[in-house]
Amino acid sequence: MTLHTSREPAKTRRPIMELLAKRWSPKAFKLEIPTEDELISMFEAARWAPSCFNNQPWRYLVTTRDDPEVFSRALGCLTQANAAWVRNTPLLAFQVMREAFEYNEKPNPWSGLDCGLAMAQLIIQAESMGWSVHVMAGFSRDRVRAAFGVPEGFRPMVAFVIGKEGDPDTLPPDDREEERAPRVRKELEETVFSDQWGKSLF
Ligand SMILES: Cc1cc2nc3c(=O)[nH]c(=O)nc-3n(C[C@H](O)[C@H](O)[C@H](O)COP(=O)(O)O)c2cc1C
Repeated sequence: MTLHTSREPAKTRRPIMELLAKRWSPKAFKLEIPTEDELISMFEAARWAPSCFNNQPWRYLVTTRDDPEVFSRALGCLTQANAAWVRNTPLLAFQVMREAFEYNEKPNPWSGLDCGLAMAQLIIQAESMGWSVHVMAGFSRDRVRAAFGVPEGFRPMVAFVIGKEGDPDTLPPDDREEERAPRVRKELEETVFSDQWGKSLF
């Protein structure tokens, strides 16, 4: 499979799926909007994520540049720093989490993990189809609630952009540099332990 991304793939100690090695979070996007069929594939991928008690706590609000009023309402929920680059992207969405289990209405401590798994599946599906996704925590939950009528018991979790990777030269200088900087990660020794906390498995 040849992937669409221009960035160097992650340097890994052993091989990983090309899709994962090449995934990254761009800020420069083209303005092309995914078709409805493409979006259905992405949200189907998310739909089939595992979740605690099969509770499926994920919900989504999706806006595109096709509807400038709704798109700018969504943009208005972001921090200034995020809005600065997201205004030049084709699609801005929010993932919203149901906080309680549906079967007993008790708080669901795993709903955040469930939502993360669904986002990961959406991202990987999108990448496999030539689209990139950039997730953001920089937005106001209250503004999303007010702007889109999110009911009690649901919490806006993350904002995200879906689009095709664009030209970094279209970004402001600071973002441009970051866009080309090498991707970095902690070493496995720092995060994967064996029989004692802090004792590396590898
Ligand atoms: C929950 C979450 C919140 C994030 N919030 C922001 C954000 O507000 N703005 C932003 O530009 N990137 C945001 N990011 C993107 C991360 O900065 C990015 O994933 C990380 O630096 C690793 O880079 P990579 O995705 O290119 O590998 C967020 C990512 C996640 C998963």
